[in-house]
Amino acid sequence: MSDAEARPSAFERLGGEAGVRALVDRFYDLMDLEPAYAGIRALHPQQLEGSRDKLFWFLCGWLGGPNHYIDRFGHPRLRARHLPYAIGIAERDQRMACMIQAMQEQQLDDTLARRLAEAFFGTADFMRNKGG
Ligand code: HEM
Repeated sequence: MSDAEARPSAFERLGGEAGVRALVDRFYDLMDLEPAYAGIRALHPQQLEGSRDKLFWFLCGWLGGPNHYIDRFGHPRLRARHLPYAIGIAERDQRMACMIQAMQEQQLDDTLARRLAEAFFGTADFMRNKGG
């Protein structure tokens, strides 16, 4: 086994599916509860169950675990799938703050949380589709 294969994935370090699910659930609970995230909450459907499932399935694969999202929906095409929602700097930053708060509350290891925040930021910034 090579070093890369021997090293645990972010998925494993998060605690596998149960850990990813707990992070996603906390992320959407906070989005629902915290006035600071009302702007991005308003972009989502009233019922968040579908959003929770999709983010959970996606993150499992994105973090190096099973490809549940691709198995169900094919290539994620994340930027195209976000085009119906107006996403600028404010929305990107609210989503980042919400995810960072969720990671802190789930007590992720500091190094893992920092690496994930960088990776989330790259993807969140790529989702921007309007000025401001
Ligand atoms: C930049 C700020 C972002 C905003 C405001 C945002 C907002 C949204 C909204 C409103 C939906 C639709 C939810 C639904 O259909 O129930 C969605 C879907 C989704 N988002 Fe984001 N998102 C952002 C960034 C990201 C990032 C960084 C990721 C991944 C790392 C991500 C992953 C997903 C996935 C996997 C879906 C489901 C796509 C589908 O199958 O329809 N999003 N997002």
